[in-house]
Amino acid sequence: MAVLILSAFLNQGAAPLIAQAATPCSVLTRLRLETRGEHDAVERLLDLMGTGLTREVYCRRLEQFYGFYRPLEAALKIRCALPGDHGVGATSQLATLLPRLKKTTRLQRDLHYLGVETADLPLCRNLPPLETEAEVLGCLYVIEGATLGGQMITRHVRTNIDITPTTGGSFFEGYAADTGKMWQAMRQLLVSGAIDPQTESAMVVSAITTFASLRGWCALANTCAKNLTENHREADQRA
Ligand code: HEM
Repeated sequence: MAVLILSAFLNQGAAPLIAQAATPCSVLTRLRLETRGEHDAVERLLDLMGTGLTREVYCRRLEQFYGFYRPLEAALKIRCALPGDHGVGATSQLATLLPRLKKTTRLQRDLHYLGVETADLPLCRNLPPLETEAEVLGCLYVIEGATLGGQMITRHVRTNIDITPTTGGSFFEGYAADTGKMWQAMRQLLVSGAIDPQTESAMVVSAITTFASLRGWCALANTCAKNLTENHREADQRA
């Protein structure tokens, strides 16, 4: 707990510290604080909010998200349609998450609009484990939370590279005006899924693993793109 309070102080300033110290450490607080390092590392790696952002870099980022979300959403759809963890016939809350798993379709639409063929894009194989409900919820925390930053990115790409939700920006637009409402519903699901301390910890571990998996995938794609550019440059110099 002391670590969390210190971390809240270092990361958020004095006002949130008072609120967090006065309330019990809920799963939501743990998720936010314990994934913050990973969130910030992914944000830095993607570098979508700089003024130097180009349409080309934006396209590469969509390709990277596509390579991650397509296999991840396919696995989540299978898992969310299965019965819950708590005995035969137990109703799983996970089925209520199925309508949220439509982000690959948006990525595909955006990439096609921007002239990228998705059929040959590489797909991530190092996905986070999704066996237990806790693992699914921790993973969903990450991909649903991304819709919050998506609202900022939507405004940024409109201003800087003239991309709007109908011209290649539908992925980041996410739930648009419903984003706050959808996030609140997700938060409630996370709280009701955290039935005991072990489950809560498993959710947090899964969220960290999901961020790390995305980060590893994007870092790999960045390295491949850099090597490809250097190979092309060397080939041009030899020609
Ligand atoms: C350039 C990229 C990104 C920016 C600028 C950004 C920005 C933000 C901002 C401003 C918030 C807080 C919104 C609020 O409290 O109203 C947020 C929350 C969040 N973001 Fe990001 N984000 C980015 C990328 C991502 C990515 C790629 C993911 C995951 C795939 C992600 C996952 C989350 C999560 C889970 C939260 C919720 C934190 C919480 O309150 O528990 N973000 N982001």
